[in-house]
Amino acid sequence: MAQLWGGRFTSETDGLVYQFNASISFDRRFLNQDIAGSIAHVTMLAKCGILTDKERDAIISGLEGIRADVASGKLTITDEYEDIHSFVEANLIERIGDVGKKLHTGRSRNDQVALDMKLYVRDELKTVQEELKNLLQTLHGMMEAHLETYMPGFTHLQKAQPITLSHHLGAYFEMFKRDYMRLDDIYERMNFCPLGAGALAGTTYPLDRDLVAELLGFYGPTLNSIDSVSDRDYLIEFLSALSLIMMHLSRFSEEIILWNSNEYGFIELDDSYSTGSSIMPQKKNPDIAELTRGKCGRVYGALQALLTTMKGLPLAYNKDMQEDKEFSFDAIDTVKACLELFDGMLKSMTFRKDVMERSAMKGFTNATDAADYLVGKGIPFRDAHALIGKLVLYCIEQNKSIEELSLAELKDISPAFEEDIYDAVSLETCVGKRLTKGAPGPDAMREVIQVNAVFLDLIGQKEN
Ligand code: ARG
Repeated sequence: MAQLWGGRFTSETDGLVYQFNASISFDRRFLNQDIAGSIAHVTMLAKCGILTDKERDAIISGLEGIRADVASGKLTITDEYEDIHSFVEANLIERIGDVGKKLHTGRSRNDQVALDMKLYVRDELKTVQEELKNLLQTLHGMMEAHLETYMPGFTHLQKAQPITLSHHLGAYFEMFKRDYMRLDDIYERMNFCPLGAGALAGTTYPLDRDLVAELLGFYGPTLNSIDSVSDRDYLIEFLSALSLIMMHLSRFSEEIILWNSNEYGFIELDDSYSTGSSIMPQKKNPDIAELTRGKCGRVYGALQALLTTMKGLPLAYNKDMQEDKEFSFDAIDTVKACLELFDGMLKSMTFRKDVMERSAMKGFTNATDAADYLVGKGIPFRDAHALIGKLVLYCIEQNKSIEELSLAELKDISPAFEEDIYDAVSLETCVGKRLTKGAPGPDAMREVIQVNAVFLDLIGQKEN
């Protein structure tokens, strides 16, 4: 057992208590953040005259040595230490001697862990944004390629009106774009440095909190030392943003699973992104989409867990807060894996355009357009709606689609029908005429694709 305290204790911690209390098995992930925070801390301490330059240099090279040795495998993080903070400090002292004992001057593990978590979330938030950007780029390319790939649009899972694949994918583009921007918002709110808050009430050393904040790339220091060590709002916001990403991925997965089914047959998943069955030789299963849909639960779970952990905590730090880590790490890992795999699955799947188009032609997706046609011939919409309803009924009896009827049959329903009805209810016309902003008409879609290209350019230029 290597711990940072013990002076006021007369007997050893019970073994089980020690294990129960320790966090090294999971907060070892914070190694780089912990070292970066410590380097900034001692740099600031030296600037403020609390350490000499020599002491600072010795500590920094010791910390860098630890980082390098762990990276090369020369040094391993073992659970002999209580947490990552103890591991780093104990190793530092072993390496550079007594001067290492000055590292923790004017600092508490409470502001230290608050800092580590913030640095970690900040890094992970950027990684998730990178992956969202890749997915957005993939979707954007597909939207350009499928401006005239027709498919049925659904409401209530029933064919409703014809759209294009470009338009359908565009809906997901908007969702993931919002997800990206939501992460920007969170970053803006969270990017303030808690270091210097001490255990909860600041410190009597003349620390320069502005300097340490600047060294670590924060906008500035947090403004209340109690809140600094007890705030995990930003992590809750992050988990909430991750939950929304998973919700979007899950809805998309659900559609891919449907589209991949024999009944739909809209897509073919690449062999490399599908799995087989141990008993049914004909199977090619959409496991990646199903797992993505399934993993939604654990990400929502992390959000719920942290909200619950935090809800009853009196100010300031309480050990309950150590519970913020494992499920958050799991949620972050899960979202990153899902985003990456999803992008690969999308890039490698093929669309069966003929099946999609045929499906759009069946199921009376052009019924609204047929009614609009009659309106164009001077019939009030409500009457036109009723006439087309009758027409659909007739079609169902005859097992035909509207455009398969003869003009005589059409005229039986309404004499207003003329030869130009066939063009009016063709897929090209039905979709092509939907030109309101955000609608599937290819010309309207082109404008949206252009606007989104500007967005992709902007986020492409952003340095992360
Ligand atoms: N392992 C602790 C955590 O994750 C670090 C902070 C410990 N602070 C304390 N006062 N025991 O929250």
